[in-house]
Amino acid sequence: MEELILDKKHDEARQGEAFAPNELSQKEFKQHFYIESYGCQMNFADSEVVASILQGAGFGPTGNQEEADLIFINTCSIREKAEQTVRKRLTTFKSLKRRKKTLLIGVLGCMAERLKSKFLEEEKLVDLVVGPDAYRSLPSLIEEAAGGLKAVNVLLSREETYADIAPVRLDSNGISAFVSIMRGCNNMCSFCVVPFTRGRERSRDPISILAECSDLYENGYREITLLGQNVDSYYYTTPQETSGPVTFASLLEQVARIAPDLLVRFSTSHPKDITDEVLDTMAKYENICKYIHLPVQSGSSRILQLMNRTYTREWYLAKVDRIRSILPDCGISADIIAGFCTEEEKDHQDTLAVMEYCKYDFSYMFYYSERPGTLAARRYKDDVPEKVKKRRLEEIVSLQNRLSLESNKRDIGKTYKVLIEGDSKKDTAAWKARNSQNKVVVFPKENHPFKKGDFVTVVVADCTQGTLKGRILIQ
Ligand code: 5AD
Ligand code: SF4
Repeated sequence: MEELILDKKHDEARQGEAFAPNELSQKEFKQHFYIESYGCQMNFADSEVVASILQGAGFGPTGNQEEADLIFINTCSIREKAEQTVRKRLTTFKSLKRRKKTLLIGVLGCMAERLKSKFLEEEKLVDLVVGPDAYRSLPSLIEEAAGGLKAVNVLLSREETYADIAPVRLDSNGISAFVSIMRGCNNMCSFCVVPFTRGRERSRDPISILAECSDLYENGYREITLLGQNVDSYYYTTPQETSGPVTFASLLEQVARIAPDLLVRFSTSHPKDITDEVLDTMAKYENICKYIHLPVQSGSSRILQLMNRTYTREWYLAKVDRIRSILPDCGISADIIAGFCTEEEKDHQDTLAVMEYCKYDFSYMFYYSERPGTLAARRYKDDVPEKVKKRRLEEIVSLQNRLSLESNKRDIGKTYKVLIEGDSKKDTAAWKARNSQNKVVVFPKENHPFKKGDFVTVVVADCTQGTLKGRILIQ
């Protein structure tokens, strides 16, 4: 069922991508690590921090698991299916270990944090279990594990932001990069395991964020996505309070001012926290992309309350109206959960009606998966039968398919200045880009001398539900 679903942020679509080292001389290193990441963009960004820490300790990256001395799997716990995928993958690694006894296998990220040393009991061939705030201790944990001990560090921190670590960007297209601006989450949505696996929310020093972004720009990157579980609650005060606090709006503005040809995106926004100040900043700078990922989760106020989302259906709709009044051309997407505890048919209809009202350009859609330890697991019964959850999800997906197609059709005839990200997946004679609203645009290269990283104006001539099809417009 979930295979149907577009999910760029979590488990299903971005599965098991490994670093493909392309810049570093492999000869410099005696031992090599292989790392595979699952789940949200935050996990992918964390793997780049891990790669940097490992490289600092003398380990070289490899894209070939057969050649690795250390294999890491950066895991996701958001839904049960994500955990099953990781366990399946571990089976392959364990069979490699049977052939190469010195191979060490490490589990990183949310599953490591959730299961802690239980993981070692369940998966005997795993050597290291390291939670998201403990990556600095990897070199010493590896030493312990190499000495035959099982190594676990799942301590969560109130301060760790890895601010001073320059991520190693090994599998990047050289154009787009993710920059983590905060860690953890304080929201306690009742269905969500993240506050337990990633700990308390903390914001990263803006000076280090700006330095990382400027550095990326100087190295040819032209698009930065600022990442956090809830970016709108970014709030940084210096420990000595020597200067005033930095809010998300002011951080966004400072990043946008690095260069007019640096595109700035961000994810994820919580509807309760996104302010007019952020919307006004987006309106003021052309290089801040006009796209907001605004998870609704449910269209029913009763369910929203059980989910502890702290807004009602009306409040959410007013927020969408506000976005559209300040940013009339803003793309909006959502996360939606079907079949949360006690959901009835009329709640489900409320969700469909909210989708129609908001005309989401796309959505990430899931059915509810109970996670141990969450507020919902403790308080409410997971009482919607799986068949009903799946049927409701199917209805949500098919409505979204129609809305996406309608949204794309409205763009036919419009022109956009877009950043070329690389070849189109299906056709090397065409470029792939995304417009400000985060829609994929493909267009034939023709005989123009453009290259990856160039900005080009395209006119939309046609579309599918997932893609705009354009032509280069030479003005
Ligand atoms: N079941 C289903 N979906 C979930 N999400 C988070 N927790 C669960 C769960 N227990 C979804 C939410 C969130 C997205 C990242 O994943 O929609 O916004
Ligand atoms: Fe989970 Fe809610 Fe935090 Fe998002 S805002 S990570 S859904 S608790």
